[in-house]
Amino acid sequence: MSNSYVASITAPVNIATLKYWGKRDTNLNLPTNSSISVTLDQADLKTTTSAMTSAEFKQDRLWLNGEEDLKLSQSKRLTQVLASLKEKRRLKEEKDSSLDKISTWFVHIVSVNNFPTAAGLASSAAGFAALVVCIAKLFQLDDDMTELSKIARQGSGSACRSLFGGFVAWEMGVSEDGSDSKAVEVAPLSHWPEMKACVLVACADKKDVSSTSGMQLTVKTSDLFQKRVDEVVPQRFNEMKKAINDKDFALFAELTMRDSNSFHATCLDSYPPIFYMNDTSKKIIKLVHLINAFYNETIVAYTYDAGPNAVLYYLEENELKLMSFIYTLFKDLSGWETKYSVEDL
Ligand code: PMV
Repeated sequence: MSNSYVASITAPVNIATLKYWGKRDTNLNLPTNSSISVTLDQADLKTTTSAMTSAEFKQDRLWLNGEEDLKLSQSKRLTQVLASLKEKRRLKEEKDSSLDKISTWFVHIVSVNNFPTAAGLASSAAGFAALVVCIAKLFQLDDDMTELSKIARQGSGSACRSLFGGFVAWEMGVSEDGSDSKAVEVAPLSHWPEMKACVLVACADKKDVSSTSGMQLTVKTSDLFQKRVDEVVPQRFNEMKKAINDKDFALFAELTMRDSNSFHATCLDSYPPIFYMNDTSKKIIKLVHLINAFYNETIVAYTYDAGPNAVLYYLEENELKLMSFIYTLFKDLSGWETKYSVEDL
């Protein structure tokens, strides 16, 4: 018998191109619409999580970005996720008596984000995805990613999409117990490897309205919301999957930008209104439309989550065309690690 077990994993951020906004069940994190995202493997935004379980440990503990998070026992979502994974391990031990009974031990978890936490850059998505995959590895669970996505979903809805790389759909499902609300792969990144993303950080502060409370306010008070979930998103869900399968960037980009605008419109239509974008975000939106008009071709798309930071999608062949604009405007800001020389731009 071993006295301790360890596992380590990295999970990338995913940014929705068709947004999840609204819960039909807040306990199980069941959404009011299906959503689609791209997992930003190449954008270097990720969470690294390590976990250890030992017969010696006295309680479950979590360190986030170097500091112990003392609220672990009070966080319903974290304890729920941990309990679901321990239960899966317990069932495995029940079937195979040669296994150590580690499902009864406590777990220590260390998690680090290499980007601003809770600033609308999907930190909770990468965080919960890393946590679930790491503990599943620690417990040597045999479940596939779709099965694990149902547990990650309970931590943070969008986390279920970070279990896959590339283009991912979260199918909302119809059941009350959430058994069919899961992430599935639309296409791997190798299907469309030319797709690139970059993040423009307009403000790295923590957002003042969390996505959970923002969503619920929108569900309760926005008149636009119902049309969005009944008509707009279901149609866009199919169109976007087709655009990805056909590698139709112009259509993918238009649907992405329209959906970001539609989601933020329902936020503005909430009462009292929620503003996630700031003046810089709005200037970037104008800039993107200007760039596309300048080239007379859609070469770039923007999308914003529950925060002011822009994620831009573009094809590799257009990187220079896009970056020459961005560099001219933002060259005085920090964060440039360009592979081009200034003359190229
Ligand atoms: O998963 P949550 O509860 O952090 O909500 C995410 C909501 C958005 O990021 C705005 C949209 C999405 O689909 O990721």
